[in-house]
Amino acid sequence: MLVAENVMKFDAIEPTQGIFNFTKADTLMDYAEANNMKVRGHALLWHSQVPNWVSALPYSEREAALQNHIDKILTRYRGKIHSWDVVNEVIKNDGSGLRNDNETPGTSDYSVWADTPTDDSLIKEAFYRANAVDPNARLFINDYSIEVMGTSKADALYNKIAGWVSQGVPIDGVGFQSHFLQSPAPNITGIRNNIQRYVALGLEVQFTEVDIRINTPADASELASQAEIYGDLIQIVLDYSNVDTFLVWGVTDKYSWIPDFFSGQGAALLFDEAYAPKPAYNTLKNKLQ
Ligand code: G3I
Repeated sequence: MLVAENVMKFDAIEPTQGIFNFTKADTLMDYAEANNMKVRGHALLWHSQVPNWVSALPYSEREAALQNHIDKILTRYRGKIHSWDVVNEVIKNDGSGLRNDNETPGTSDYSVWADTPTDDSLIKEAFYRANAVDPNARLFINDYSIEVMGTSKADALYNKIAGWVSQGVPIDGVGFQSHFLQSPAPNITGIRNNIQRYVALGLEVQFTEVDIRINTPADASELASQAEIYGDLIQIVLDYSNVDTFLVWGVTDKYSWIPDFFSGQGAALLFDEAYAPKPAYNTLKNKLQ
């Protein structure tokens, strides 16, 4: 399964209002089709990589812009996308509500897609619209630092989703981005407990952007413990029937977002900078065999 790291985002697809650029996204879709691969769509409503023309619109005009964007991209790829990240990263980092445009632009709490910390109208609208245009795609809400039950952001997201599901919003599942550290290792029991409560809501869970970063240069024991964590995560996929998808956020450590965002860290993926398989690759292969 493929996912575009950047080329299906709002600023890539519709850099100018009403002018759509599908060239790179089409290339990815064609490659997937030629190689019998599925595709995840990423991402429709997200506070980042939003083009300037959207940010400049008054709040009241953003709904129509979002609807048109969803209509165009989902129509073009209708029937070809396995699952869409309809909504991405809407919960504030401290779990205290939704990112919104009353916060200071440029801070992590800011988003053009809500007017207040409780205004979820565009979030719900995005799901309804996506469901209307491509009813066969599985519709996801995706986020980071929401994987472990009992942590504030995870519980905040769960409570929001439980509310939307009870209102009938067409959500199929929750994406656990899973940008983890090799040390301290993620709390696997807490992840399993979290999945369990989404099972109870009738939702799927996907691991959507897995990487496990290490202070570089990584030594052999760090790579071994990274492999163990990858193994613990894939074991969850093997154990739960409502978890069937596991994507890593990149192929090789040579091309990864981590060193740009976390100075001194990297080596997070399955292949090293020379494309040699790492211990984590072998662990996943053994588990799947
Ligand atoms: O395309 C420009 C290029 O023209 C310019 O020369 C260069 C100079 O900085 O920047 C290039 O754009 C960069 C873009 O990636 C494409 O490489 C942006 O600066 C950079 O900020 C952007 O980073 C992406 C990031 O999302 C943006 O938020 C990462 O590649 C991408 O891996 C990352 O992915 C996100 C998921 O979408 C959501 N979950 C978290 C994940 C990691 O942050």
